[in-house]
Amino acid sequence: MKKIILMIVSLIILAFFLTAYAEDKQAGKITGKHKEAGLSCSDCHKEKTPSARPSQKVCRDCHGDMTDTKSKVYKDIAGHEVTFNPHYTHTGSMRCTLCHKMHSTSELYCNTGCHHKFQVKVP
Ligand code: HEC
Ligand code: HEC
Ligand code: HEC
Repeated sequence: MKKIILMIVSLIILAFFLTAYAEDKQAGKITGKHKEAGLSCSDCHKEKTPSARPSQKVCRDCHGDMTDTKSKVYKDIAGHEVTFNPHYTHTGSMRCTLCHKMHSTSELYCNTGCHHKFQVKVP
């Protein structure tokens, strides 16, 4: 009996993690400000049933190149202050979705393999 209960409990826990994972990966959810602004799938995907990632041109059509973003003081992971503009770095203007993920958690591209890591919240 104890064994069965233990097995059921483990299965419930496993199912919980699997759905949580699936949700994070689930394409097709519009989140945050885009949801508030009432965007629909086709605003980005330009097709009735989205099947492929859209071109970043769609971002630029609505947002421009974001070149008017001002530099800000951020901190690196060691706590040192650094001033930079996430929309205009030493590599110039980068592909928007390198940082802004539309169906999963955004992340600063520089933190995923570059020389320096920063404490920056990406919307
Ligand atoms: C604000 C723009 C935007 C909206 C709105 C949007 N998507 Fe996406 N979608 C993307 C981007 C960008 C990607 C590429 C992955 C990423 O950056 O998150 C993507 C990826 C996908 C993919 C995976 C394609 C692949 O091959 O990787 C599917 C499926 C998808 N979206 C479906 C949808 C559906 C369904 C909706 C509406 C409920 C929707 N999307 C709304 C921007 C958007
Ligand atoms: C149809 C127009 C439209 C398209 C296409 C679009 N956006 Fe947006 N986006 C908006 C609006 C409207 C807002 C909310 C007001 C604002 O912040 O400008 C917004 C907000 C945002 C924000 C701020 C989110 C927040 O929570 O503060 C980011 C980041 C963003 N968009 C990135 C993107 C990226 C990347 C793409 C391309 C994959 C994209 N957008 C495509 C209209 C659009
Ligand atoms: C290197 C990573 C990175 C790239 C690439 C990037 N962004 Fe951002 N973006 C950020 C960060 C970080 C913020 C938050 C800035 C802050 O601290 O206020 C932000 C904020 C935003 C916002 C909301 C705040 C605002 O200034 O209105 C929008 C909209 C946005 N980005 C759109 C874009 C678009 C469109 C592109 C492509 C042309 C792009 N971003 C490329 C990192 C990036």
